[in-house]
Amino acid sequence: MSDDSPIRIAVIGSGPAGFYAAGHLLKGGEEAAIEVDMLERLPTPWGLVRSGVAPDHPKIKSVTRVYEKTAAHPRFRYFGNVTFGEHVSREDLLEHYHAIVYATGSPLDRPLGIPGEELPGSHAATEFVGWYNGHPDHTGLEVDLVSAERAVVIGNGNVAIDVARMLVLTPEELAPTDTADHALEVLARSRVQEVVVVGRRGPAQAAFTNPELLELGELTDADIVVDGDELERALAVHDEAAEQDVTSRRNVEILRDYAQREPTAGRKRVVLRFLLSPRELIAGEDGALAAVELVRNELVADESGALRARATEETETIAAGLVFRAIGYRGIPLPGVPFDERRGVIPNEGGRIVHADSGERQPGEYVVGWIKRGPSGVIGTNKKDAQETVDAILADLGAGAGDGPSAGADADARASSNGASGGLHPSTPDAEALERLLRERQPDVVTYEGWEAIDRHEQALGEQSGRPRVKLTRIEEMLRVAASEEP
Ligand SMILES: NC(=O)c1ccc[n+]([C@@H]2O[C@H](COP(=O)([O-])OP(=O)(O)OC[C@H]3O[C@@H](n4cnc5c(N)ncnc54)[C@H](OP(=O)(O)O)[C@@H]3O)[C@@H](O)[C@H]2O)c1
Repeated sequence: MSDDSPIRIAVIGSGPAGFYAAGHLLKGGEEAAIEVDMLERLPTPWGLVRSGVAPDHPKIKSVTRVYEKTAAHPRFRYFGNVTFGEHVSREDLLEHYHAIVYATGSPLDRPLGIPGEELPGSHAATEFVGWYNGHPDHTGLEVDLVSAERAVVIGNGNVAIDVARMLVLTPEELAPTDTADHALEVLARSRVQEVVVVGRRGPAQAAFTNPELLELGELTDADIVVDGDELERALAVHDEAAEQDVTSRRNVEILRDYAQREPTAGRKRVVLRFLLSPRELIAGEDGALAAVELVRNELVADESGALRARATEETETIAAGLVFRAIGYRGIPLPGVPFDERRGVIPNEGGRIVHADSGERQPGEYVVGWIKRGPSGVIGTNKKDAQETVDAILADLGAGAGDGPSAGADADARASSNGASGGLHPSTPDAEALERLLRERQPDVVTYEGWEAIDRHEQALGEQSGRPRVKLTRIEEMLRVAASEEP
């Protein structure tokens, strides 16, 4: 490989993990002149920053300014509306790049695995969140907020809090946000008066973070309700790990404060319940969800000392027309890429992909973000996570043909078949070749300029109504607007 030939790396997915990886690669590889191409299934970038972060949290979304800087780098290109495994295969990419970094996240919900889970009125939080955020996959979701007066949210993480809060925000609070128009209309007509958030373990084990839990106590039109007795019963079992955890200790303080509050008659309520697991979702006469049967849990230590929920004989039934299952996300396997079915992640060692069974390295393939470590942490967690993977890539590059990305038998065969020396150079070193291939397979590729046209269009629509943007929620609309900028 000649010294001045660029190292070409494909990043699959344009969420925070993908963008942090791209940013680190472009910085870290200054001397090696790394070129990064990002491929994204949707026309629009930013992953969960666009379609996961709650619309009333605009400050969190401003992190995209960092990603915009990365996108402006002369050695960065964006190809939106391109699906890995459909328009382009792993083999295609290995032909055209020295390395692939998968950053595809965890787009699916984890199932509860209980009877009635699929009843009308029972929704995965992933779908509901995508729906109010205008994700094109979820635009058509039907959420009946008119028939139900009570909703139950299963789970004690920040997604459960986001869902509960979105259900009780007033139309005035939602008006200045970028909530999708279809969701604004439905939410404005909502008759939901009470949202019950159910945790299978206790307050000390909840996965909430402090600012999110505090926000629930400051809602304009809804009171927070916590039963002091239930809280103290759950806290009676000592949890050493939680005791050492600053976030958990503060959560408990906040919840004890909430337990002192008296709800006001006539206002909406967010009720936090603990030590309860749903056992069955029960249909009413019309076949739609009417109630949730829950079983009371007790906390017992497992072999490692961690407190787990164990079902007792005691049950409780809560009448509810809506259930939102917010018990975590799950990754989807990618064609040809190793996958750990149990954990829902791509098996890896510090970001280097390995085969699930043999543990053998898959040269030239790397992973970042939720599909690497599972769905945990906040947006910033992905920065460090991506750095670990990029350090591995740079180290492999420096290690030469023996260890490097695109090294090994396949790469040698590719290199020798087209006369390249050193075994590292792909068969088509010009960056145009892959673009030609993509455009053949997907004539509606959206470039970064195309996305910028969508962005400007959405912001201009937003300006008219005092909102940050009015999101386009259909792929066809996005393509039409993007095409106005495509060469
Ligand atoms: N504002 C923000 O910063 C923000 C907003 C949204 C999401 N996030 C982050 O995104 C990540 C994902 O959030 P998340 O809320 O989806 O996941 P999470 O934080 O992992 O919480 C999942 C919750 O579901 C519970 N759960 C799991 N399986 C269950 C079952 N079978 N039955 C009942 N409950 C069950 C878990 O309880 P156990 O603990 O008992 O397993 C836990 O309380 C988190 O890192 C979160 O902090 C951040």
